[in-house]
Amino acid sequence: MFDTLLSPLQLGPTRVRNRIFNPPHGTTLGRHGQVTDDLVAYHRTRARGGVGLIVLEGMTLHPSYGFAESFLYAGDDRIVDGLGRLGEACRTEGTPVLGQLFHAGRGVRLSHDGSRPLSYSASDIPDQRYRVVPVPMPVDMVQEMIESYVAAAGRLADAELDGIEILASMGYLIAQFLNPHTNRREDDYGGSLDNRMRLLREIVEGCRQRIGTQRTLGLRITLDEKTEAGLPAEDMIEVCRRLQSLVDYFSVISGSSAAPDGWIHVFPPMSVPPGFVADDAARLRAEVDKPVLVAGRINQPQLAAEIVEQGKADMIGLARALIADPEFVNKMAAGRIDDIRACVGCNQACVGHRLAHFPVSCIQNPYSGREQRLPPAAPARRSRRVVVIGGGPAGMRAAVTAATRGHAVTLLEQSARLGGQVNLAEALPGRAEFGGVTSNLRRELEASTVDVRLATPADAALLRELAPDSVVVATGATTRLPEVEVDGTHMVDAWTVIRGEARVGKNVVIADWSCDWNGLGVAERLARDGHHVRLLSGGSVAGESIQAIVRDHWIGVLHGLGVEMTPYAHFFGAMDGSAFFQHMSSGEAIVCDAVDTVVTCYAAQVRRDCDPLLAGLDCEVIRVGDALAPRTVEEAVLDGLRAGLAIE
Ligand SMILES: Cc1cc2nc3c(=O)[nH]c(=O)nc-3n(C[C@H](O)[C@H](O)[C@H](O)COP(=O)(O)O)c2cc1C
Ligand code: SF4
Repeated sequence: MFDTLLSPLQLGPTRVRNRIFNPPHGTTLGRHGQVTDDLVAYHRTRARGGVGLIVLEGMTLHPSYGFAESFLYAGDDRIVDGLGRLGEACRTEGTPVLGQLFHAGRGVRLSHDGSRPLSYSASDIPDQRYRVVPVPMPVDMVQEMIESYVAAAGRLADAELDGIEILASMGYLIAQFLNPHTNRREDDYGGSLDNRMRLLREIVEGCRQRIGTQRTLGLRITLDEKTEAGLPAEDMIEVCRRLQSLVDYFSVISGSSAAPDGWIHVFPPMSVPPGFVADDAARLRAEVDKPVLVAGRINQPQLAAEIVEQGKADMIGLARALIADPEFVNKMAAGRIDDIRACVGCNQACVGHRLAHFPVSCIQNPYSGREQRLPPAAPARRSRRVVVIGGGPAGMRAAVTAATRGHAVTLLEQSARLGGQVNLAEALPGRAEFGGVTSNLRRELEASTVDVRLATPADAALLRELAPDSVVVATGATTRLPEVEVDGTHMVDAWTVIRGEARVGKNVVIADWSCDWNGLGVAERLARDGHHVRLLSGGSVAGESIQAIVRDHWIGVLHGLGVEMTPYAHFFGAMDGSAFFQHMSSGEAIVCDAVDTVVTCYAAQVRRDCDPLLAGLDCEVIRVGDALAPRTVEEAVLDGLRAGLAIE
């Protein structure tokens, strides 16, 4: 079934062993612009997992966009040694490595010292996302920029990487020159397409000359920037046609950094359909005679195979899919496709960490980005009897990890279903894929020796019988109502609404303390069911606590459904059909009249119903996940893993 996907391909001088590549993605694993052992371990793990090609994260190359705390910096020779080590480590595992060269142009959110950044672009057209007004690059700076690209390409070649990729996509610097909306220059670098592509042409020509024909040179491009003032696809296709004799491949993605709608498609969340860029790749592939690579929400081997089989692309990029499961390719090659831990497109620990300047990771796979920092699940010195109480993500992760290490594990789940709060999250509109977190863990449980007992509450007799050496308490949290005065108004908590157990009136006010998926999800569900919904959130924006791209997209959906959103609203109480809030900064009252139901999304509460049982036990007790403190699935899985690793 995966023969074509697993067949080799020639990308110019570089032979790749299969058609899966790891697209460039900023990891925040570098330090001071340099490669670290953490970064080497990260990529070596993916190379060992069988991926055919790795394209390293966008490296900056010019002081006007340095930011060495977030990016590898190829603008001076210090980068060479580390890249050499990294390339060597991956090649030893059979995977060639390319380095990507990157300049964001006006798309700058970073600063060296907290002051507003000074950014450069083709012209002074303001950026919608960061509200930056760039300085038009003087011609001598354009020349210097080209020289910097070429010098950086030379450093990557000196490091013995297999080649380079030039980022000309996503509305960043080169795309700003290509795009007539952002390039209003009247010199040799603006106006006609020939002029607008001059910067790119001179970079490509210079880099090709510098790295020679024994190294691969690729171009990353976007055909559809998914935003109003995006670069027209026809222009980009023409650019590719004109440059194809100089490059070895084109890599197609979608979206733009320039505005929120475009940005959502650069890191597409689960609401964006899988494989949504494949038709763009096919369109380009029909126009050029070089291999075309594609990435964008491809998380299943069947979909990857289909895109290649249908001739839409020559190689498939898996960025987040390999963050979630670095063994994706090996598992696919071994026919173990059900064992692949599919990425669910939540963006939480990968994009979320990256944009918050932390190393990338995955809510499902805490080892990602911590390859050297978390110990492997090595056999324990002796086998212990372990009881895990609770079958949510924390309990499942703890159980699998402990069993993998040789412990005899029994998992007790009081309901008939594994999954805990994930079962609530996946019940929300557009969030069904989130249930993959449970399916993936359930699959690991099935493949393990864990004795899973559903519909089995823990009780004293059972615990006596199981006689555990260690108990992992993963009982999660329950909902709670805010301590406010409510009189003559119907009030219900969000989880009851999500479970479909509440009668909700026509006019709904959501008192959204948590500013997470609960408020946004309940608002969407009720609005779709025909309710009039007002969402009052206790933060500066609804969904403040969740990853920004997921939030941006969700807020767009709610706006389309007519949900009225009010930020900075602290819930005060409700009386006779009116709900009262206080503006969190001015202290002024916000009154909502004609309210049939108030839905509260309030802080969850640690479940303590097992505590009396535990008091009588003479064994190690480890609390994990929401049973320790209500947080998210990311921390639940991490806690569960740590517990499974900690049991001696
Ligand atoms: C954390 C993160 C950082 C990224 N950084 C880059 C980058 O430096 N250069 C680039 O061209 N694309 C970057 N991307 C985009 C990915 O290469 C890829 O196109 C995108 O994640 C969609 O593919 P996926 O659905 O397989 O994750 C990044 C993606 C992620 C998740
Ligand atoms: S955190 Fe979510 S989006 Fe990111 S790799 Fe993991 S499952 Fe995928």
